[in-house]
Amino acid sequence: MEQNSLDATVDETLVQKWIAETGKSVSAAVPLLQAVQNEYGYLPREAMDIIVAETDVGASQLYGVATFYSQFRLDPVGRHVIKVCHGTACHVSGADRINTALRQSLGIKNEDEDTASNGSYTVEDVACIGCCSLAPVMVIGDETFGNLKGTDAQRSLKKHARQQGEFLPGHEEEKSEAEAPDRRSPGKQKKEVWQ
Ligand code: FES
Repeated sequence: MEQNSLDATVDETLVQKWIAETGKSVSAAVPLLQAVQNEYGYLPREAMDIIVAETDVGASQLYGVATFYSQFRLDPVGRHVIKVCHGTACHVSGADRINTALRQSLGIKNEDEDTASNGSYTVEDVACIGCCSLAPVMVIGDETFGNLKGTDAQRSLKKHARQQGEFLPGHEEEKSEAEAPDRRSPGKQKKEVWQ
């Protein structure tokens, strides 16, 4: 597996501590994976290697468990997760268009990827989140956005990014501008980087 620039730095001592607490038998696989994912947001390869080396769980068993349960993910997750509902009501109301618009804003081109290259956001498909009357719906952090068109989703993402101090891929030059000292007269200085 290739090293990804978003990969977490794994603390081996921590993984060893979880193994000492949970045990080395095959039944320890799920709790160990849960501990790893709680810590890093996904299952880094390095942590998986430590578990395989230090327990009775074989590599194929461990990866079998990791890929069987949808709660586990093998790729790094962004600093913020956008949940796009794909329940029936949202699906028929255009959830796919919301995904497409968000992925476009985040510069995610490969179908098998779901995270922006700068690690800012991950777009995740989820089942019904219980507010079907607002379909199609997405959730960023603890905020729910409903009755969305693609452009609404993009606008809400941009607003969220601005509030969180995140920059969407392709807007790095705006980040550079933000970091550079503003040499214009105070009256001409913009209050916000993004309009
Ligand atoms: S189907 Fe999307 S909220 Fe229910």
